[in-house]
Amino acid sequence: MAQLVPSILSCDFSRLREELLLAQEGGANTIHIDVMDGHFVPNITFGSLMVEAVRNILPHALLDVHLMISNPRSYVTDFAQAGADILSFHVEAVQDYDAVVNEIMKRGLKPGIALCPGTPLETVRHLLEKVYLVLLLTVNPGFGGQKFIVGMEEKITALRKMIREEGLSTEVEIDGGVNEENIEFLASRGASWIVAGSLIFSHKGEIRERVEKLKTRIAPF
Ligand code: DX5
Ligand code: ZN
Repeated sequence: MAQLVPSILSCDFSRLREELLLAQEGGANTIHIDVMDGHFVPNITFGSLMVEAVRNILPHALLDVHLMISNPRSYVTDFAQAGADILSFHVEAVQDYDAVVNEIMKRGLKPGIALCPGTPLETVRHLLEKVYLVLLLTVNPGFGGQKFIVGMEEKITALRKMIREEGLSTEVEIDGGVNEENIEFLASRGASWIVAGSLIFSHKGEIRERVEKLKTRIAPF
């Protein structure tokens, strides 16, 4: 069953507690946290201190941390200690993927591997059996509120097929440009974790209702 994963990137950080509690009341139990270093991507957001803050607000939520950073291996311990549950790093940011995956598992976290829109799926075929999820960026990484890159739906279907061929149950997470018009279509193409930032948090005053409605819409897939 497809699950909705709110991304805090579009939150009003001066009201983070209120907005996260509203998302949880709407039924969200996994939160996507976009860490950006201004080097791997042309934007800086936050680091492990934000993960710690979200953990303090939502002690029982699953924290799905998306590292859009260079040299992710050096920060695994920080994010583990801050309370992350899943740690995804970009395949484009490292040479030794296995070493980073092993480091994440050694710290008791679930590893995810993230791909930019232009990176071929074949790059991660050999990692599928080791990771908990593959995170497909469906926008160029760095900012919320961008438009879904047309054609990425093929990549979702191809990844779902690759996972089935390998006889695995790896989650397919999509991230970026999910909106009212495409969310059910994307779930039908095989996305099992659907990140939504601006779709939820750019509509202040409706956060709980939007989470409830979006969850219901993707539940059948
Ligand atoms: C891109 C970020 C965004 C964010 C979701 O680097 O990873 O994709 O999570 O943003 P929206 O849902 O607003 O496109
Ligand atoms: Zn993300």
